[in-house]
Amino acid sequence: MNVDFYEKIWMWAAAGIIVVFLASIGATFFGQAIQPPSHVETIDPESVRTDPEFGQPGVTIHEDGSATVVVQAFMFAFLPNEIRVPRGRPVKFRLTSPDVIHGFQIVRTNGNTMVVPGYVSQFTTSFSEAGEYLIVCNEYCGLGHHVMAARLIVEETPAAAAAGRGGER
Ligand code: CUA
Repeated sequence: MNVDFYEKIWMWAAAGIIVVFLASIGATFFGQAIQPPSHVETIDPESVRTDPEFGQPGVTIHEDGSATVVVQAFMFAFLPNEIRVPRGRPVKFRLTSPDVIHGFQIVRTNGNTMVVPGYVSQFTTSFSEAGEYLIVCNEYCGLGHHVMAARLIVEETPAAAAAGRGGER
């Protein structure tokens, strides 16, 4: 079969682009711990505010020092809007929205997810540096989108200080 010279160039270029795309997914996964969502969990958006879990959003610290953070993202705020978690411990975020699509990005970290009404978004990460982090909504959600923000405070805990090292990602 005779393939035209220019056709060959385009075939190789197309194959090359696919390789670059797959390599970039691999690089972000292994290099920056960026991964697709872990699971599918649904919730009725109308019941979010009365839900036993999401109706009482907040931080729970477990016996092993890890934390679970339950967050409601709505027009135009996060609840709670100040989140305190321990440094160097696994922190599981669980989020949902009673209205429209929002974003939840913890600036300068790999914590970043969409928050979609009808679904529970969940990811687990840990923070190796104590301090204050800005959380922003990064999905346009309406007129107040630009003021939709919250604070994450990563606290030095006695246990983390005794261990004397940063958290694993
Ligand atoms: Cu919520 Cu933009």
